[in-house]
Amino acid sequence: MSHDINPLLTLSKEDMKQYGYKIVDHIVAHFDTQNDKKPVATATREEMDALLVEDIPMMPSDPNSVLDFVLENVIPHSNIVSHPKSFSFVPGPSNYISAMADTIATGFNIFSGGWAASPAAAELEIVTMNWLLDMFGFPAKQGGGIFTSGGSMANLTALVTARRIKCGSDFSKAIIYLSDQAHSSNIKAIKVIGFKKEQIRIIPTDLEFKISLNKLKNAIAKDRLEGLQPFCIIASAGTTNTGTVDPLDEIAKICAQEDLWMHVDGAYGGAAILGDEGKSLLKGIEKADSLTVDPHKWFYQPYEIGCLLVKNHNWLSGTFSEKPEYLRDIEGNESEINFYDHGIQLTRRFRALKFYMSIKTFGLASFKKAVQYNLDLAETLEGILRRSKLWEIISPATLGVINFRYNPIGENLSEKQLDAINQSISQHIVSSGEALLVTTVLQNQVVLRMCLINPRTTLDHILDTLALGEKFGETALTKIES
Ligand SMILES: Cc1ncc(COP(=O)(O)O)c(C=O)c1O
Repeated sequence: MSHDINPLLTLSKEDMKQYGYKIVDHIVAHFDTQNDKKPVATATREEMDALLVEDIPMMPSDPNSVLDFVLENVIPHSNIVSHPKSFSFVPGPSNYISAMADTIATGFNIFSGGWAASPAAAELEIVTMNWLLDMFGFPAKQGGGIFTSGGSMANLTALVTARRIKCGSDFSKAIIYLSDQAHSSNIKAIKVIGFKKEQIRIIPTDLEFKISLNKLKNAIAKDRLEGLQPFCIIASAGTTNTGTVDPLDEIAKICAQEDLWMHVDGAYGGAAILGDEGKSLLKGIEKADSLTVDPHKWFYQPYEIGCLLVKNHNWLSGTFSEKPEYLRDIEGNESEINFYDHGIQLTRRFRALKFYMSIKTFGLASFKKAVQYNLDLAETLEGILRRSKLWEIISPATLGVINFRYNPIGENLSEKQLDAINQSISQHIVSSGEALLVTTVLQNQVVLRMCLINPRTTLDHILDTLALGEKFGETALTKIES
């Protein structure tokens, strides 16, 4: 391919084809062979600097050699979050249809901000939002929502809206409540919108990691007595640590009695609504004023797509609508939604497309079966661990998440020794590259956490990893005893 100075930034038709087909071949190979690779990539800053740091290239290079360089030196240095042995954080199982849909959205560079710029993109966001409203029992006509970059931005968008509706412009006395297990993105959002530390109440959780209703009620009552303005409760529908769902019905009751905004963070757990026991665990979610779900987690979408649903779409437009003169020609009418009026971003990529194409292609029945499979897999693992003499369950399988530790019966190890052994098991598994299995801390205990939301993870993937854990556990135990 030619690589002269090229101010039009174009390639010939043949070169575009060759370049594009080569990329598709690599992506297909990745989908086809990822299970045979190791999911973990580790590298130091020094190693990455040595590989990638260079001065800004002034002169053109051959497109294929840049592409080859990236495929060889950049792509392999990332964890494979869609790998069946990627058990940590919240995995991103993804799917090929959506990856290709994202390619279309980018290839056509569709501006998904205003109706006039892309009526079909806005319409598909309305269509898919209606699917989600229906799934979560939100009102079809009055409800609304918006796709965001992820759960963090959805939580932020929700809290800006909640603050405007409940506090207006003076929020100096406003108080917000969330549990000590709520996701950190909520605290980040609270800080971003200008609340002081004194306006945040972190409510302790009970032994099942649910927000303590008694402590929540006490905190609200005390704040009222002090002349403060309780305005919002953030409930978790699937905490990141343990998959725990806060008591949503009871929280809804408190919100109704106290005139508080109910925001539910279901970023990872919300998708469990597609499974049978998920649906019953999430009872009450339909009572939220706003709900975060994150399709790039358990709806199997590639990054980035988060979603905020609200009971009344006017709450979003009332909060985010600005009318600058340079956008007046694309305003349209009321029913022709400009999504830039429903959230923070003006220029937005066409996120709805991947959600639309993947659900239409595979059918919701496939997604339901996948989610149910994940829920069942975690239950099966719980049964195996309960029957084992080596492992102890610390939090049972809930919405696909389970926490456990190596604690062989009869060894009588101290908490300190158990923490050291389990940390060592995780470190050894991760540095072997065989599986991504990191620790978290629950009730001051270092535990191994598995988040089983990949529909391509089999019981064998899990058993292989447990066997590895047992091997490293035994080595750590021998070291302690010697
Ligand atoms: C419960 C919960 N809320 C919010 C987030 C943040 O979502 P994102 O990483 O998409 O911004 C996460 C991420 O794991 C989460 O688990």
